[in-house]
Amino acid sequence: MVVSPCCSRSTVALFLSLLMAATCTSASLQVGFYRSSCPSAEFIVRKVVKAAVRRNPGIAAGLIRMHFHDCFVRGCDASILLDSTPENPSEKESKANLGLRGFMVIDRAKAELEAKCPHTVSCSDILAFAARDGAFAVGRGIDYYVPAGRRDGCASLQSEPLQNLPSPFFDAEQLTQIFARKNLTAEEMVALSGAHSIGVSHCSSFSKRLYNFSATHPQDPSMDPALALVLKRMCPRTPSSGGGIPDPVVPMDLVTPNRLDNRYYKNPRKRKGVLTSDQALTRDPSTRRMVRTNAKHRAVWASKFAAAMVSMGSIDVLTGARGEIRNNCSLVNPN
Ligand code: HEM
Ligand SMILES: *[C@@H]1O[C@H](CO)[C@@H](O)[C@H](O)[C@H]1NC(C)=O
Ligand SMILES: *[C@@H]1O[C@H](CO)[C@@H](O)[C@H](O)[C@H]1NC(C)=O
Ligand SMILES: *[C@@H]1O[C@H](CO)[C@@H](O)[C@H](O)[C@H]1NC(C)=O
Repeated sequence: MVVSPCCSRSTVALFLSLLMAATCTSASLQVGFYRSSCPSAEFIVRKVVKAAVRRNPGIAAGLIRMHFHDCFVRGCDASILLDSTPENPSEKESKANLGLRGFMVIDRAKAELEAKCPHTVSCSDILAFAARDGAFAVGRGIDYYVPAGRRDGCASLQSEPLQNLPSPFFDAEQLTQIFARKNLTAEEMVALSGAHSIGVSHCSSFSKRLYNFSATHPQDPSMDPALALVLKRMCPRTPSSGGGIPDPVVPMDLVTPNRLDNRYYKNPRKRKGVLTSDQALTRDPSTRRMVRTNAKHRAVWASKFAAAMVSMGSIDVLTGARGEIRNNCSLVNPN
C-alpha cells in the first residue's frame, strides 16, 4: 500500500519520510531546482503569467499578494490554494484573504506543467515563480532568481490568516513585530510594503479613516484632505463604515496603479497613504528613514524588494520528503 507521507499520520509514513529526509535531500531551497527534472518549468510559468497580466494587469498584484499570504500562514506551502471542504473551511474563507485573485493563473500553469512533467513541480514553487513573474511584468526591470524545491502542505485553516497576517490598522511597531515573527527585518517589511504601489484595496480596509476615525476626528488627520475627498467619492459611507455592502475597490496608487515602483514611498510622505499601515511607516521614527531612502533611490529599493521577496519565499518551507507535490493545486492528493 502506498501511503502519502504528506497527510497520513501513520507511523509507517512518518518513518518513511524521516528516512527519505535523512537519505536524499538537503533542507534548503535551490536556484534552478527543476533544471534537470523539468527544464522548462520557470519558462512555462512566466509565459502563463505574462499572458494573464497582458489581459489584466491587476493579476500581477494578485499573485504577489497571494505569495505573501501563503508564506505568512504555515510557511510557503500553497495552503492558500486549498479549497474548503464541507468539514473544513480553508484559508480562502478568512476575512484577511478578501479579494485574493489569480487562482486561475496558478491552475493554468499547473495544468501545463502536469502535461509536460507530471508530478514534478509543486504548487508552492509555481506560486513563488508566479509572484516573481508578476513583479517582472509590471516592475520595469525587477527580476530575481527564485530558490525552489518547496513542497506542498496538507492543511489550510480558516482561522490562521487573521492570526498571522498584519492588519491594515497596525502601527509600525506592530508591523515590525509580526514580520519579526517570520524572521523578516523592519527593513524587509518596509521594502515589501512597496508592493502596495500596485493593485487595489476594498473601501472596507480603510473607510474608517474617512468617516469614523475617532471621537474628535471623523476623518484621519494624517491623511491628505485632497486624497480623502477623492476616496470618499469612490467609497460611499455605509451604515457601519468599516465593512459594509457595497464595498467597492480603489487603486492604492491612484496615479500609476499598474506600475510596481518606488512611488509608493513618496505617497505616504505626502500623507497620501491609503492604508493606516502605509501611513504608519512614515510616522514612526524607526522606519521613516527607510521610507525616505526607498523614495529617493528606485534601484536601491528594487534590489531590496527582490531580496526580501526571496527571504519571504523561504519562510517555514517544506523540503525533501516533507509535504507532497499536489496533482491539483486546490486539493490535497488522495491517500
Ligand atoms: C506590511 C503589512 C501589510 C498590510 C497591513 C497589508 C494590507 C493590505 C490590504 C488591507 C490590502 C487590500 C486588501 C483589500 O481590501 O482588497 C492589501 C493589498 C495588497 N497587498 Fe498588502 N499588506 C501588507 C504587506 C504586503 C506585502 C508584504 C505584500 C507583498 C510583497 C503585499 C502585497 C499586496 C498587493 C500586491 C495588494 C493588492 C492586491 C490586489 O490588487 O489584488 N502587501 N494589502
Ligand atoms: C526563525 O529563525 C529561528 C532561528 O534560526 C528558527 O528556529 C525559526 O524556525 C525561524 N522561523 C521562521 C518562521 O522561519
Ligand atoms: C464607528 O466606530 C465605532 C467603533 O470603532 C463603532 O462602534 C460605530 O458603530 C462606528 N460608527 C459608524 C457610523 O460607522
Ligand atoms: C482541481 O480540483 C477542482 C476541485 O475539485 C476542480 O474543480 C478542478 O477542475 C480540478 N482541476 C484539474 C486540472 O483537474
